[in-house]
Amino acid sequence: MSFPQAILKLFKSRHKPITVGLTAEAKANPPKHVAVIMDGNGRWAKKRGLPRSSGHYAGAENLHELCKWCIEYSIDYVTVFAFSTENWQRPQKEIDSLMNLFIEFFTRYERELEAEGVRLRFCGETQELPLAVQDTMKKAEASSIKRSNLQLIIAFNYGGRREIVRAVGKLLQEYRANEIKPDNLVEADLSAHMYLPDVPDPDLIIRPSGELRLSNFLLWQSAYSEFWFSNVLWPDFNKGDFTDAINDYASRQRRYGGLKEAE
Ligand code: FPP
Repeated sequence: MSFPQAILKLFKSRHKPITVGLTAEAKANPPKHVAVIMDGNGRWAKKRGLPRSSGHYAGAENLHELCKWCIEYSIDYVTVFAFSTENWQRPQKEIDSLMNLFIEFFTRYERELEAEGVRLRFCGETQELPLAVQDTMKKAEASSIKRSNLQLIIAFNYGGRREIVRAVGKLLQEYRANEIKPDNLVEADLSAHMYLPDVPDPDLIIRPSGELRLSNFLLWQSAYSEFWFSNVLWPDFNKGDFTDAINDYASRQRRYGGLKEAE
């Protein structure tokens, strides 16, 4: 299946009017890093009598829209959950479709992503993926390394617990090599072994589709993230919804366990 014109038309026509813009507060203090759990593709397709794969194609279209909103709003990093370490339990047909879609996405948007200055990065157990997917990842990463408008990080075969276990394994190797001492361990030692240690923790995590859970996404990095939940299914989640999330984020006070300045 390739990006089918009928689905794209359906996708383009679903936008509700966008009535809000960014508040002055949000313009002055946008999140540096937003993460999105792109949930609800299956239900979006089912509501239209389409196969689940059509929902994923519409979801991938929306991922490109998301990049444009982030650039417009001066957001530096966006991480999206595209395939979890648990998604292998889905029917083989759906897994195959998601792998193909992953490859097609980069062919379809190669030029736009380049023109928009989007750098591509990936996190997850990428070595377990089909070779064609790994190859696409390597090419996308290498060819986009100098772009600086936005870093799009795609979590693919990603699980937060797996990431933590992998980091602990690396620390144990360092211990065996006498490079670290358990009594001196600090949080930064574990952070240094996450997939992308240079990427700041997400300021805001958005989950559309009405589900109220983290589903093993960015467990270590989300310790002080703000959350935004919405009932809108991911392919329908538009710029207005995104703007609401950013405005709400900017109106919150983040205390990281401390107190407000005046208290
Ligand atoms: C969850 O919705 C979504 C996924 C498991 C896949 C998300 C993938 C995309 C949006 C495509 C991304 C493409 C690229 C190129 C990275 P669901 O299927 O669980 O929806 P449901 O809860 O309604 O069944």
